[in-house]
Amino acid sequence: MEFNYCGHSGLLLPKISLGLWHNFGSVDSYETATAMILRAFERDVTHFDLANNYGPEPGSAERNFGKILKENLASHRDEMIISSKAGHDMWPGPYGDGSSRKNLMASIDQSLKRTGLEYFDIFYSHRYDGVTPVEETMQALIDIVRQGKALYVGISKYPPLLQQKCYDILKEAHVPCLISQYSYNMFNRAPEAENIPLAAQNGSGFISFSPLAQGLLTNRYLNGIPEGSRAARATGFLQTETVTPARVEAARQLNELAQQRGQSLAQMALAWILRDERVTSVIIGASSVQQLDNNLDTINNLYFTDQELARIEEILKDPELQLK
Ligand SMILES: NC(=O)c1ccc[n+]([C@@H]2O[C@H](COP(=O)([O-])OP(=O)(O)OC[C@H]3O[C@@H](n4cnc5c(N)ncnc54)[C@H](OP(=O)(O)O)[C@@H]3O)[C@@H](O)[C@H]2O)c1
Repeated sequence: MEFNYCGHSGLLLPKISLGLWHNFGSVDSYETATAMILRAFERDVTHFDLANNYGPEPGSAERNFGKILKENLASHRDEMIISSKAGHDMWPGPYGDGSSRKNLMASIDQSLKRTGLEYFDIFYSHRYDGVTPVEETMQALIDIVRQGKALYVGISKYPPLLQQKCYDILKEAHVPCLISQYSYNMFNRAPEAENIPLAAQNGSGFISFSPLAQGLLTNRYLNGIPEGSRAARATGFLQTETVTPARVEAARQLNELAQQRGQSLAQMALAWILRDERVTSVIIGASSVQQLDNNLDTINNLYFTDQELARIEEILKDPELQLK
C-alpha cells in the first residue's frame, strides 16, 4: 500500500480505503464481511469508512464492524482510521434525519455504542440537508471534537458555496476540515469543476466514494446484469436503469484499454482517480475477497501515458455517460 498525507495535515491515509456501505449489513454474510476486513487490514488498508445508516438494516454495518474488530483486531485500534457519518435518514421522528445539532449529537453517541469504539478518527456531516444553517452543523462537528468523540471532522456532498463556508467556519474554530468526501469516478466528473479545487485550496484532503460507479466501471456488467450483483439485488442501491447500453459500451472500450495496460478495468478506473495528486484516497466497496484483492493490486500500476489519458477522454466524451 502507498499512503498520502490528507490535505494539509499530518495524517496519512492509504491510497485505497474500504467502505462498508454495502455487503457488511445484517442481510449479508458475516463470514465474508470478516474475511474482507481482515484481508484489507493485512494488506495495509488502515482506513475503514462507515456511516450510521449503513446496512441494511441501518446500523448493522457499524454493529458488525465493531464485533469483527473486537473478535479479531482489538489490539490494533491505534493502527486504524475509522470514520462514521450522520445526516441521512436513520431513526423515526423529526430528529433521526438531517444535519441539525440534535441529529449529529445523538447519532455519534449511537454510532460509538454500536461499534463499541471510544472515539471515531473522522466524523462527517454526511450531507447538506437543504435547511439547517451550516453554522449549526459545523458547530456540532467542532463540539464533537472538543468532547473527544472524534479526532477530525469531514464533510460530504456539500455544494461548492457551502463547502467553502464549512471550511471557513471550521478553520476559524481551529478544527480544520480534514477531508471532503464526494462521488468521483470516470462516470461522475462533476467534482473536477469546483469540489476538488476548493478542497485543495483550503488544505482539505479529498476522498472519492463509489470510485467504481458501484460496479459499472468493472467487468461486472459487460455481459448483462449477473445474479447477485448490486444492480440485481433488492437491497442494492444501483438501479438497473443506470446500467445503460451506452455505459456498458464505454466500459467495454475502457476494459480493452485496461487489458492493454495489463490491468483489470476496476484497477484502471481506480488508478485514473489517483492520477490527481489532490485526491488523497479512493473508498472502494467489495462483495468478495477476490474483488478486494484485485482492487488493492491497483497500486502496482498507477502511471498513465498521455496517449492513454487522451483515449480515456475520447471514450468518456458523451455527456450522457455521466451520472448525476
Ligand atoms: N458519502 C456518501 O454519501 C457516500 C455514498 C456512497 C458511498 N460512500 C462510501 O464509499 C464506499 C464505496 O462505495 P461503493 O461501494 O459504491 O464503491 P464502488 O467501489 O464504486 O463499488 C463497489 C461495488 O463494485 C463491484 N466491484 C468492486 N470491485 C470489483 C472488481 N474488482 N471486479 C468486479 N466488480 C467489483 C462490487 O459490486 P457487486 O456487489 O455487484 O459485486 C462492489 O460492491 C461506501 O462503502 C461508503 O463507505 C459514501
